[in-house]
Amino acid sequence: MIREVKDNTLYFDGCSTVELAKKYGTPLYVFSETAIHREFEELNATFVSKYPNTRVAYASKAFCTVAMYRLCQANNACIDVVSGGELYTAMQAGYPAEKIEFNGNNKQPEEIAMALDYGIGRFIVDGLQELTLLEAMCAERGKTANVLFRITPGVKSDSHDYIVTGKKDSKFGIPLDDDVIYPQVKQAIDAAHINFMGFHFHVGSQLFDNGSHLQALDIMLNVVKTVKERFHYDVTELNLGGGFGAVYTTEDRKPYAYFLDPMMERIEAFFKEMGINRPNVVIEPGRSIAAEAGLSLYTVGNIKEIRDVRKYVAVDGGMGDNIRPALYQAVYDGVLANKADVPKDDVATICGKCCESGDILIRDLAMAPAESGDLLAIFSTGAYGYSMASNYNRNRIPAVVFVKEGNDRLVVKRQSYEDILRNEIF
Ligand code: LLP
Repeated sequence: MIREVKDNTLYFDGCSTVELAKKYGTPLYVFSETAIHREFEELNATFVSKYPNTRVAYASKAFCTVAMYRLCQANNACIDVVSGGELYTAMQAGYPAEKIEFNGNNKQPEEIAMALDYGIGRFIVDGLQELTLLEAMCAERGKTANVLFRITPGVKSDSHDYIVTGKKDSKFGIPLDDDVIYPQVKQAIDAAHINFMGFHFHVGSQLFDNGSHLQALDIMLNVVKTVKERFHYDVTELNLGGGFGAVYTTEDRKPYAYFLDPMMERIEAFFKEMGINRPNVVIEPGRSIAAEAGLSLYTVGNIKEIRDVRKYVAVDGGMGDNIRPALYQAVYDGVLANKADVPKDDVATICGKCCESGDILIRDLAMAPAESGDLLAIFSTGAYGYSMASNYNRNRIPAVVFVKEGNDRLVVKRQSYEDILRNEIF
């Protein structure tokens, strides 16, 4: 059990959360290495080992640090980066260049230059200007880039509007109009410094239904067929993105196989029928690897009871370390970690310390009656928490601690006030 209760205290991967809070202070991000390893193990067992020529490229945007990259590397994964910053982090972690794939809808010339000079494995190209730029930059360097095109499949996924990416009206991907996509494919096939490998889609995030993945796949396979017919060109790689849902409260999480088996079945049948070798297949999970592996610890401060309305329990963090409730109305669960056995007889709303009414972390949480000084744990904050953290109100970004079987290690220090002023000139 990653999460357990002993002596009225919440333990996470063998570590007492109360001791972690004492040692490192709060707010604090805590990640279970065991939980992260288990995700990779499941992916390896049910996908990578089951189907030849497949790989996992962890979507770094969910949680990106050098320490996380080391875990990815230990699990033999590739990584997906979307910015110079993520790429730089990977370079500092010594990530093997060929195992890095570069996504993003508006890659900057200096980011492309960094990636080319480091020699990364794949560019997932998001449009004509990028293709032209990449081709020119490769030519300048006498290099060849491995390229996939991200397509806009135009499908609907069941998730928050902000994290649905495969619909037609999207800033991501290349629209599939005949006169848009195929000239670009032709340009990529003909380009001397581009090795055109195939196509990529990512339909959305936090999904529990495989329908939109399967629809997008059919659309992508149709494009593959057209490319074969028109240009006599066989693609060598397909990328199915990520989006596999994680548990925040009571969601019924689906195993990876629920998404991947039916997709692999269709892919294998399709290429068999076409009489060509099945291309490599890549997936890009982020949230499903990091979310449940992380929790956030906060110290309770002011408690306000607004008679007949609501009780507010304020903690020492908030929207700066977890923007998701404010941005996507994301719902989380939590517990008083130092009163983990106390019956949850009270209901309170957990708010942060930012000067903003929307700075609510959990609405109407059933919890043990809170007192100032209690420790609150919020679960499943591992994905898109630290990675979307901000210095709003000049609060410091919390530290990150990794725990594993009762041992803890600091992997990111809490920001200092000096860090916040570092780039100011005065
Ligand atoms: N690949 C691509 C090209 C993506 O755009 C994304 C996520 C992923 C992979 C990983 O998706 P995942 O497996 O994590 O669902 N900040 C939002 C999530 C934005 C996701 C954007 N793209 C949130 O906190 O919910």
